[in-house]
Amino acid sequence: MRVVVLGGTGVLGRYVVQEARSRGFDVVALSRRSGVDLVTGDGLAPALRGADAAIDVTNVQTVRGGPAARFFESTARNLQAAATREGVAHLVVVSIVGVDRLGGFGYYGAKVAQERLHLDGPVDATILRATQFHEFPGQVLSRSTFGPVAVVPALRVQTVAARSVAEALIDAAASGPLRGRLPDVAGPAPARDLPALARAVLERTGRRSSVLRVPVPGAPGRAVRAGALLPAADGALVGPTFEEWLAGTDGPTSA
Ligand SMILES: NC(=O)c1ccc[n+]([C@@H]2O[C@H](COP(=O)([O-])OP(=O)(O)OC[C@H]3O[C@@H](n4cnc5c(N)ncnc54)[C@H](OP(=O)(O)O)[C@@H]3O)[C@@H](O)[C@H]2O)c1
Repeated sequence: MRVVVLGGTGVLGRYVVQEARSRGFDVVALSRRSGVDLVTGDGLAPALRGADAAIDVTNVQTVRGGPAARFFESTARNLQAAATREGVAHLVVVSIVGVDRLGGFGYYGAKVAQERLHLDGPVDATILRATQFHEFPGQVLSRSTFGPVAVVPALRVQTVAARSVAEALIDAAASGPLRGRLPDVAGPAPARDLPALARAVLERTGRRSSVLRVPVPGAPGRAVRAGALLPAADGALVGPTFEEWLAGTDGPTSA
């Protein structure tokens, strides 16, 4: 089975590529670094040629709605169009648990648009929604540490290992075309406060920044406090726990 991984160099994408190779798939890992730009479509069609499935785990580093919408809407349109032209029968797309419970807020609204374009597109798309990754507190720290202070939003999250999400994405690709959304995938432990997880990462890596916990204002904040980002009752809960991940080989190492 030939699988193209778009965003194969990212936090999630690296595990997707590893997992697909370990199952003996013929894997092509792509991103802008290898000359394929999913926003402009440059290099995309030839890269998809001969693939049985393409897995989209690309991302844009913004929380703002406008830039996120431009990214996820153009990548979804370009991927659907190129897959149609090249006869790729199945697209697998990662999304985020609860994106549709935040009233179109910022980045989350853009992920809703991405899902919709794929579900309405000509090529069968399987959407897998995951909760925030165990790696997410570290990603937030690297984007929002200013001098000695890290600004971390007060999100209630039930984090999951990116490696476990990658396994679920490869299961989806191996199962063949399905148009629709799979059950949510989330970590096995009850919801936690994102700033507390960020503090644990700082402690584990021996960094001294202090974490400023910032409440999310307005309706999105109320939704998040009420559990908007937590998995539905039929969600698949998969290990390891955050603490097991933190102590293990996939966890962060000292700076
Ligand atoms: N992080 C989380 O906690 C989390 C939770 C649930 C779902 N998700 C979803 O998982 C996906 C991946 O997130 P991540 O945190 O793994 O992202 P990431 O580490 O930022 O990786 C993003 C990947 O996308 C590639 N990329 C960016 N712009 C591109 C473009 N124009 N064309 C082609 N490739 C491009 C990057 O490589 P180049 O820079 O080389 O192009 C990189 O390989 C996202 O869709 C996100 O919404 C994330």
